[in-house]
Amino acid sequence: MFVPSTGSVTARSARSGSQLAGTPRGPHRAPDFHPRRKRKDTPMKLAILISGRGSNLDAILRAISEGRLDAVPTLVVTNRPSATGVEHAGRHGVPTAVLDHRGYPGREAYDAAMVALLREHAVDTVALAGFDRLVTPVLLGAFPGRVLNIHPALLPAFPGLHAQRQALAYGARVSGATVHFVDEQMDHGAIIAQAAVPVLDDDTEETLAARILAEEHRLYPLALQRLARGGLRLAGRRVLGGEP
Ligand code: GRF
Repeated sequence: MFVPSTGSVTARSARSGSQLAGTPRGPHRAPDFHPRRKRKDTPMKLAILISGRGSNLDAILRAISEGRLDAVPTLVVTNRPSATGVEHAGRHGVPTAVLDHRGYPGREAYDAAMVALLREHAVDTVALAGFDRLVTPVLLGAFPGRVLNIHPALLPAFPGLHAQRQALAYGARVSGATVHFVDEQMDHGAIIAQAAVPVLDDDTEETLAARILAEEHRLYPLALQRLARGGLRLAGRRVLGGEP
């Protein structure tokens, strides 16, 4: 359901089953990759999908307002009525919508509603920023090569939940952040940008997460700007070109 930024937030009820990142499913497939929009002369119309605090959303919106990212912040969508991050959208005057996954019988039905909402707003690019749902081919097929995600680890290390906890438990000396194209598998698509941080002896999950998060806020706008400028191309899994 679409809820304008000034409106109240209403939860869809009934079904439970918010699932965080789940088990990778389906065949190993290359993403359907068409990273150019039809008209290069128009700025990309960006939707940002969140589930929680929205600090990456804030970083993206700040980059846009400071002229570091050539995009129109078209819509912010959350699947969780409780997501505090939508406040960032309000501050930047960006429309928001709550599309509660609990109102839908499955992932495909949810994604179909998401696609309809995004199309209503003429969105052409989708940034997942702490969005805790696996997306399906219904969404990916509607925006081929235009759905991005950020993950708080150097993929392919430590996909899934609690990436910082995983890095500490494994004894990694370096971790970081990854921006990647989304495909049908969790935290798996072609990598656009990465940034590394050290893991220090006295790190806790929280201190490591904070160090990584600072890099996330720098990295995500940069990666989106590379996409916005065009010229990215895929060679196998390698994303080439489009350097700022
Ligand atoms: C970030 O660490 C991001 O990498 C992960 O979820 C977290 C979202 O944080 N996917 P925020 O909501 O952007 O503050």
